[in-house]
Amino acid sequence: MSGWQRTDGPVLRIEDLSVRFDVRASMLRTRPIAAVTQVSLELATGETVAVVGESGSGKTTLGRATLRLVPAAEGRVVFEGEDIAELQAQRDLTFLYITHDLASARHFADRIAVMYAGRVVELASAQRLIEEPQHPYTKALLAAVPEPDPANRLRQRPVVGGEPPDAGDLPPGCAFAPRCPAVMAGRCERDVPGLIQLEDGHEVACHLYSAGASVSTSSSAASAADSASSAASTKGSSASG
Ligand SMILES: Nc1ncnc2c1ncn2[C@@H]1O[C@H](COP(=O)(O)OP(=O)(O)OP(=O)(O)O)[C@@H](O)[C@H]1O
Ligand code: SF4
Ligand SMILES: [Mg+2]
Repeated sequence: MSGWQRTDGPVLRIEDLSVRFDVRASMLRTRPIAAVTQVSLELATGETVAVVGESGSGKTTLGRATLRLVPAAEGRVVFEGEDIAELQAQRDLTFLYITHDLASARHFADRIAVMYAGRVVELASAQRLIEEPQHPYTKALLAAVPEPDPANRLRQRPVVGGEPPDAGDLPPGCAFAPRCPAVMAGRCERDVPGLIQLEDGHEVACHLYSAGASVSTSSSAASAADSASSAASTKGSSASG
């Protein structure tokens, strides 16, 4: 459960998957809901990836689209090099573990993918994601309850200040910007951050780490994100769970 290593090829490959729903906005109009946007994920044989995120972040839709229970607007899902249509019948699907609960994610998953507004914003081994979160949203989730023992901290339900965005009316740029204490004016509200590879298969989608902020300068970025998360955590409340 520590470092993630892929020995064989991926058993499941989610490639640039987007799912949209058209919901009725009025008698005459529908509006698109961006439930899942450009998610890519490769799972190795026997690997479990937990998908965590707030309500409405797209976890269930990602799982359903992986099973072909809802159609992809873009992208595809490939299972052992084959189309995944028969997967549900053939396999006990244990590899995408969808949960609100970071504590169980840590115990049951090899890696954790954090979703926000339909996108994966951070992906790392379970241990690394919990011990060294990089995205301000992940940090805020984990820091919602100050607790010196991380194992206990994770039993608290994380509550991040502010409301998740409406998937039918996402803000431009980084969807977390309206809630992010580290938001960079003129940048974050304009450009959608892509996933950046950090070391050890750790990926994060945040401008603190992109363009100009290489890994070698990421300590200043990381401390900016640290102060972001502590500020975010003070806005949240907590509940035992
Ligand atoms: N069948 C549907 N028709 C229209 N919109 C949908 C449908 N299913 C999901 N959505 C919307 O897509 C977005 C993602 O929903 P989804 O259920 O995947 O989130 P989730 O992360 O599983 O949330 P929760 O933690 O509450 O289960 C939400 O805005 C939701 O309202
Ligand atoms: S710093 Fe910018 S890109 Fe990173 S999470 Fe905050 S708003 Fe998004
Ligand atoms: Mg769900």
